[in-house]
Amino acid sequence: MAEAEIGVIGLGVMGANLALNIADNGYHVAVYNRTVSRTEAFAASAGELSDRVTACATLEQFVAAIRPPRPVIIMVKAGEPVDQQIAALKPLMQANDIIIDAGNANFRDTMRRFSDLEGSGLTFIGMGVSGGEEGARHGPSIMVGGAEEAWRRVEPVLTAISAKYQGEPCAAWLGENGAGHFVKTIHNGIEYADMQMIAEVYGVMRDHLMMDAPSMAAVFSAWSTGPLDSYLIDITAEVLRVHDAATGLPIVDIIVDAAGQKGTGRWSVIESQMMGVPATAIEAAVAARSLSAMRDQRSRAEKRFGLPRQQERRDGQEAVNDLENALLAGKIAAYAQGFAVMAAASEEFGWNLPMQTIARIWRAGCIIRSRFLGEIATAFAKDPEVPNLTLTPAFSTMIEQTDASLRRIVAEAALNGMPIPALGSALGYFDTYRRARGTANLIQAQRDFFGAHGFERIDGNGAHHGPWGG
Ligand code: 6PG
Repeated sequence: MAEAEIGVIGLGVMGANLALNIADNGYHVAVYNRTVSRTEAFAASAGELSDRVTACATLEQFVAAIRPPRPVIIMVKAGEPVDQQIAALKPLMQANDIIIDAGNANFRDTMRRFSDLEGSGLTFIGMGVSGGEEGARHGPSIMVGGAEEAWRRVEPVLTAISAKYQGEPCAAWLGENGAGHFVKTIHNGIEYADMQMIAEVYGVMRDHLMMDAPSMAAVFSAWSTGPLDSYLIDITAEVLRVHDAATGLPIVDIIVDAAGQKGTGRWSVIESQMMGVPATAIEAAVAARSLSAMRDQRSRAEKRFGLPRQQERRDGQEAVNDLENALLAGKIAAYAQGFAVMAAASEEFGWNLPMQTIARIWRAGCIIRSRFLGEIATAFAKDPEVPNLTLTPAFSTMIEQTDASLRRIVAEAALNGMPIPALGSALGYFDTYRRARGTANLIQAQRDFFGAHGFERIDGNGAHHGPWGG
């Protein structure tokens, strides 16, 4: 009997929690997983929600269990498995049914899937979901891409399951086709930069200020009551407080320093480079993860070069205050870059991305949720067309209040050999961006010298070549 109002395929951590969230919000959900034992385990764990869950052993049963027109959320590993799932579903579904890919898809794959499904009668939605396990269960941030009419059909359930910021749902339609997955990718790129800059500050505290994990936890906790107030700062404080049961050591001290990455950070960088919009803080964060994975080489290099001698340390509290401001300044650069990349993509793909809405639906539910995003939403509300966040009154004031700290931290880190590539690149970006007369005149001269590429004159007298080589 078709009593389910929606279906979820893929009962990994995210899919299972999303399905429970849907049931919790009063919707009847059909679920299916390729491995039947997982579906059974899920059904057994649904507890008091099991009345609103129909666990299906086959895809045929699953489709039959949902009332047409059927919204079906696919939450499987991004890439090939999504294509396989769509191919398997397609012959079983009817006109007007909606396939929603809720994984971390590359938006270019999403664009392709939109065109593949064109004319099939099926509707497709590419949906970014952020918030990890907890978010999926109790309210993620949801970024929707597809036809607006398709969004209207699933809006009630998606807003019901989404996080709420002061009662406002953190779910929105952001534009056609790949818009939702693109925005989710940039969300993750910013997440990489945010996490990297926090890790850099942690590195300065650990290896230069010689602070132990509990003292650092106290610093991060204190910061979470100020302008850096965010989920990532909160969990950093929490992580630093936890001890390993086996050794009694702070757990961070026994974790291998090699970061994983599944692709979204890298895609953010690739797309930003393709559009010629610098996202240096995100680039630095992705590169830092790659360098982190080169453990053997790093050990070899440390044996060869040793570590730089530490210069005299400043007063701890003064340094910590600078670190807080430096992190805020770095964060401004990273977010300014992420939003600038989205603005360029919006133009290129004709999405008309609503920047203010994006900032609003990131205020709760997602991994980068923070007080800061509320300020970004306000800044975009006042000036929706601003080309760069740093030029808004609120953020330019914030930069004026923090850039001296960033400068001191970058200088100090350099002198002490502390790697802070993301914070350093944020400063480099800002210093380049704020200078009307840069140094590319020399590059133009060089290009013209070796390749006769020509240059523009500052007096506006058109294209020229230099009188090189006599
Ligand atoms: C989120 C997270 C989520 C996931 C990333 C981690 O917004 O909920 O970003 O999407 O944790 O895939 O990505 P990496 O494995 O690349 O760090």
